[in-house]
Amino acid sequence: MSLTVAIIILLSSIYNLLFIPSLAAAQPTNEASALLKWKASLDKQSQSLLSSWTGSNPCHDNWTGIGYSDRAAAAKSVVTSIRIQNLNLSGTLSDLDTWSLRNFESLDLSFNSLYGHILSKIVNMSGLKYLDLSHNYFSGVIPSEIGMLRSLDKLHLTNNSLIGHIPNSIGNMTNLTEVLLSGNSLIGFILNSIGNLRKLVRVDLSRNKLTGPIPPKIGTMSSLKNIQYLDRSSNYLTGAIPSSIGNLTNLYFLYLYSNQLSGSIPPELVGARDLIDFEIGYNLITGTIPITF
Ligand SMILES: *[C@@H]1O[C@H](CO)[C@@H](O)[C@H](O)[C@H]1NC(C)=O
Ligand SMILES: *[C@@H]1O[C@H](CO)[C@@H](O)[C@H](O)[C@H]1NC(C)=O
Ligand SMILES: *[C@@H]1O[C@H](CO)[C@@H](O)[C@H](O)[C@H]1NC(C)=O
Ligand SMILES: *[C@@H]1O[C@H](CO)[C@@H](O)[C@H](O)[C@H]1NC(C)=O
Ligand SMILES: *[C@@H]1O[C@H](CO)[C@@H](O)[C@H](O)[C@H]1NC(C)=O
Ligand SMILES: *[C@@H]1O[C@H](CO)[C@@H](O)[C@H](O)[C@H]1NC(C)=O
Ligand SMILES: *[C@@H]1O[C@H](CO)[C@@H](O)[C@H](O)[C@H]1NC(C)=O
Repeated sequence: MSLTVAIIILLSSIYNLLFIPSLAAAQPTNEASALLKWKASLDKQSQSLLSSWTGSNPCHDNWTGIGYSDRAAAAKSVVTSIRIQNLNLSGTLSDLDTWSLRNFESLDLSFNSLYGHILSKIVNMSGLKYLDLSHNYFSGVIPSEIGMLRSLDKLHLTNNSLIGHIPNSIGNMTNLTEVLLSGNSLIGFILNSIGNLRKLVRVDLSRNKLTGPIPPKIGTMSSLKNIQYLDRSSNYLTGAIPSSIGNLTNLYFLYLYSNQLSGSIPPELVGARDLIDFEIGYNLITGTIPITF
């Protein structure tokens, strides 16, 4: 038994010696050429903003916005992220070869002038933990395939021109802690599938065109007990504030202003004992602030 184990270990280290160096040479090339291809698809001015993107090794040639980690074991640097904020990059994601960038953990292109659709091929970047395309001009729907990004921790799409429904598949992204979708034109109901997301801490759906009631089950889903920040302000939500929100015991911020919510403020809200800011103005709420509050 232990002999077998030893042989396997020995074989695997020979495998490493033989094959890792060739992978090390090949991989940056794939990623570099994918990045250069995307750069070439951007408008002229944007290309000049990325003038540091030349050569074949984004890590060692210090490409703007490219992050990498040194994998000592493999004796190589691995590109793991793009973070280009506020550079006024203009162009689309159509020519982004997401398959070549499948090992990336982070893609942050916030505060630029990118446009076009968030294409379903984004799901090829299956290792993504952080996806931030906020403050651009992206349009179209959030592709339902996005639910396949199972490792995603933070999804930030604030302030674009996205339309359509929040995809149901979001309920499959069980590692999500932050969902920031405010400032778009999203329609439809707030989904019950959000109750699958046990790690959610921050949810901002404000400034959209969401309709219907706040799912009454929201607080009965004990899974949501980590939520600290819940912003559903400036939509077209109707119905009453579910008393079960009082179950969200870690809630600090609850913004429901500028909707069409009716009924009264449920006394059970006192259960959200950490609440420090609750804004409910510009609704159709009647009655008084409960004495328990
Ligand atoms: C990249 O940056 C490192 C550290 O700042 C520096 O030592 C190196 O010379 C730079 N490489 C190039 C090609 O500019
Ligand atoms: C941003 O880029 C667009 C198009 O490339 C250009 O028209 C605009 O002037 C730029 N804005 C700034 C602030 O540089
Ligand atoms: C992912 O990449 C592969 C290989 O390039 C491609 O065939 C596939 O269509 C891509 N997936 C999506 C959803 O675009
Ligand atoms: C939304 O993004 C656009 C484009 O980047 C910008 O002009 C606008 O000021 C932003 N709005 C808010 C509320 O941040
Ligand atoms: C979810 O997060 C946990 C803890 O950080 C991690 O062990 C797990 O691999 C993640 N799941 C996916 C699909 O990335
Ligand atoms: C969630 O993932 C499961 C398993 O891959 C799949 O069958 C299901 O259709 C997904 N749900 C949604 C809403 O995409
Ligand atoms: C959540 O709140 C509702 C209404 O206040 C209550 O009936 C229910 O028992 C609570 N559920 C949990 C899991 O605490």
